[in-house]
Amino acid sequence: MKTNNIGVIGMAVMGSNLALNMADHGYHVAIYNRTYAVGEIVVAENPHEKLHLYKELPDFVASLEKPRKIVLMVQAGNAVDKVIENLIPLLDQGDIIMDGGNSNFKDTIRRTKEIEAIGLRYLGVGISGGEEGARFGPAIMPGGSKDAYQYVQAILEDISAKYEGEPCANYMGTDGAGHYVKMVHNGIEYADMQLIAESYAILKHVGSFDNDELASIFTSWNEGELESYLIEITAQIFKEIDPKTGKHMIDVILDRAAQKGTGKWTAEEALNTGTDASLLASSVFARFMSSQKDQRVAASSVLTFDAPKVELADRKHFVEKVREALYASKIIAYAQGFDLLKHASEEYGWDLDFGSISRNFREGCIIRARFLNRISDAYGSNPELANLMIDDSFRDNLLSYQGSLREVIALAVQSGISMPAFTTAISYFDAYRTADSSANLIQAQRDLFGAHTFERVDEDGNFHYEWNQ
Ligand code: ATR
Repeated sequence: MKTNNIGVIGMAVMGSNLALNMADHGYHVAIYNRTYAVGEIVVAENPHEKLHLYKELPDFVASLEKPRKIVLMVQAGNAVDKVIENLIPLLDQGDIIMDGGNSNFKDTIRRTKEIEAIGLRYLGVGISGGEEGARFGPAIMPGGSKDAYQYVQAILEDISAKYEGEPCANYMGTDGAGHYVKMVHNGIEYADMQLIAESYAILKHVGSFDNDELASIFTSWNEGELESYLIEITAQIFKEIDPKTGKHMIDVILDRAAQKGTGKWTAEEALNTGTDASLLASSVFARFMSSQKDQRVAASSVLTFDAPKVELADRKHFVEKVREALYASKIIAYAQGFDLLKHASEEYGWDLDFGSISRNFREGCIIRARFLNRISDAYGSNPELANLMIDDSFRDNLLSYQGSLREVIALAVQSGISMPAFTTAISYFDAYRTADSSANLIQAQRDLFGAHTFERVDEDGNFHYEWNQ
C-alpha cells in the first residue's frame, strides 16, 4: 500500500513541524521516530488526516510512493549516519534521502558520495526559520544532484516561505552546497546579532537610554533601511516585563550567550578557504568571551578603567550615528559572508548564484531583511562582483556612514566598552581599501629568518636577499 508522498524521520520540534507543514499543503506524510511514544504525542497533539505515524521503519518505507522521498530531521552527526544505515537495506535504486538537519557540509559531501555510489540519491537541505518557520514556511536551501532535486522541488517550494509569492527554496548547488549556505546564513546571523548587541551596549552605557527608549529606538529603526526580523524582535524584547519580578525581561537575563556550533563552523571555513571573515569570527569569539562570566566579574574590579564621562550634545543625533554605524557594519558583515561563499564556490566547485542566495534569505529565515533585495540587485547588475562593498549603491552607503562608524567606535573605546564586531568591521573596510599595506615588512621578516623569498614591486619573480644577521 504505497499511499504516502513523502516520509519524515525524526519527530522533534523541527521534524514534526515540517511534517505538519507538508500535510497542510496536501501531501500524505509518513512519519517515524526512533522512540515511538514521541511520534504518538505529535499525532495526539496535532491530529491531521494526512499525517500517518508508523511504528516500524520497514512499514514506514513500504508506505511511500516511488521514487521514495525521505527527509531526515534527526540530530546532526552520528544519528544521521545511523538512520541512513538502517534505511539502506529497505530502499530501492533511485530512492531519495534528504537530510534537513543542521549537518556539517563535509558530512553531506561524504554521504552524497557513499549513497550515490550504491544507486540511491541524496540531498543535503538547509532549513532555517526555527520552529515557526518549519511549521508555516522556512527558508530552504537544497543541495545535491539536480536529478534528485526535480522530484522534490514542488514539495519544497510549496512548504517554503514566500517573498511576494516567490518561494524561498532555490536550488543551491551539488552535494554540500545547501548545508554550506545554511552554515554561512548562521554565521551572518551571529554577526547581525552581535552588531545589534553592541549597538545596545553603547546606547545604554554612553547614551543612557532606558529600556522603553531602546524599544522605541529599535521600533523606529525597523521602519527604515534596517528593517529586519532581528531588529523587530529586538524592539519587542525591550518591551517585555518579567512576571516573576516585574522588571524588564532583558535585565533578568544572564549575559552568557550559548551556541550550537554553526557560527564556529563558519569561522573555521573562513580559515580553511583563506577568507577574511573577521567580523563573523569576532561574533563567535564574543560568545566565547560572554560565557566566561565568572572571570569577567572578577576582572571587572581588577582591570579597572576610569572612563571619562561623555556628555552627548544631542542624544537624538547620537542615536542616528549609531544607526548609521550599525548599517555600515551590517553591509560589511554581509560582504564577508558572501565573500566566504565566493571562495567556497571555487574551492568546492559549486557555481553558487549569489543573487539567488540573497533572494532565498528574504523570507522565512532569521536574517530576513529588506536589505537583502539590495544584495540581489548588486549581484543582478554584476554577477562577478569582487566584493559587496564596491557595488555602487553599497559603496555610497559606506562612504557616507563610515564617519559615524568611526565616531561610535572611538566613543566606545574612550568609554571602555568592548565592540569587537564594530571595530573589526572598520578594520576590514580600511584594510580592503588600502593600496599599500604593511605586508612588505612581513615578507621581509619571513625572508630574513626563513629565506621564504619575496616578490618585488619593480620586477617579476621570487627573490631572496642576503640579510646581514
Ligand atoms: P531538536 O529539533 O529538538 O533540536 P535534534 O536534537 O536535532 O532535535 O534531534 C532529535 C531527533 O533526533 C529526535 O527525533 C531523536 O529521536 P528520539 O526521540 O528517539 O530521541 C532523533 N535521534 C537522535 N539520535 C538518533 C539515532 N541514533 N537514531 C534515530 N533517531 C535519533
